[in-house]
Amino acid sequence: MPADFLRPSGRKALIIDGKIAAAAVIAENERATAALIARGVKPGLAVVLVGDDPASGVYVRSKSKMAAALGFTSQQHNLPATVAQADLNALIDKLNADPAIHGILVQLPLPRGLDSAAALERIDPRKDVDGIHPVNAGLLATGAAARALVPCTPFGSMKLIERTMTALGRKVDGAEAVVIGRSNLMGKPMAQLLLAQNATVTVAHSRTRDLPGVVRRADIVVAAVGQPEMVRGDWLKDGAVVIDVGINRIDAGEGKYRLVGDVAYDEALDRAGAITPVPGGVGQMTVPLLMANTIEAARRAAGA
Ligand code: GUN
Repeated sequence: MPADFLRPSGRKALIIDGKIAAAAVIAENERATAALIARGVKPGLAVVLVGDDPASGVYVRSKSKMAAALGFTSQQHNLPATVAQADLNALIDKLNADPAIHGILVQLPLPRGLDSAAALERIDPRKDVDGIHPVNAGLLATGAAARALVPCTPFGSMKLIERTMTALGRKVDGAEAVVIGRSNLMGKPMAQLLLAQNATVTVAHSRTRDLPGVVRRADIVVAAVGQPEMVRGDWLKDGAVVIDVGINRIDAGEGKYRLVGDVAYDEALDRAGAITPVPGGVGQMTVPLLMANTIEAARRAAGA
């Protein structure tokens, strides 16, 4: 397999270029969408944004935009932060019943006062392109990922891990993997995906004792904690494959900021075998894989 997505850094680690890896997903999405449309099935994605959090607004617009660019039916529903739970539920019910919509995404976090779990559980699991409904989480946990919809960021991370390990002549099968973070959208599904590929998986979190010692065992490290540069270079096993899911804004002075991951990237370049940069790493895969999930939901709905 050509490893065009692995670039030299001039140091020890190879850089896992998310943009190049994502281009292959985007090309496949274009091909699959054209094939579905030719059969009279137009994928439809509805994105729901509640409130006016600026970061959520940016993410939601990028999702709506990529859906429209692919030729999907693309809807964006903006609700005020003060919306009643009953009105949010009513919108979800309407989208569940709409045959033109195959994917429903409620952007998280929801404003205070709304019950996220109730909203997410209300989404028809067949339209849950975030893969966060308990039915999809359960299918993944019971080894039926092929029938589930899988959350996009762990899905993208797993693709990068598999392709990188293969390019380095290594195997996920039997490898030691450490996932730092245990969220429903990232850490837990990530652990399930690694387990399904026969890695030995440790899920670490804020209460883990001796996190550096746990990370030092790992052939594969996935950091998803939201703590800027928390994982230090000297915590890493020599040659580890590192996927950095963190996107943290830190003050760069003069009213400016810069984005850093959960891993001290510069230090890691002298220890890791390969690492994703922030930005330009796994984040590039998320929206294309959301589109892939929507295409898959449309294909299943059409029995195609
Ligand atoms: N907020 C941050 N990441 C995500 C995501 O992947 N899905 C949803 N729905 N909300 C998010």
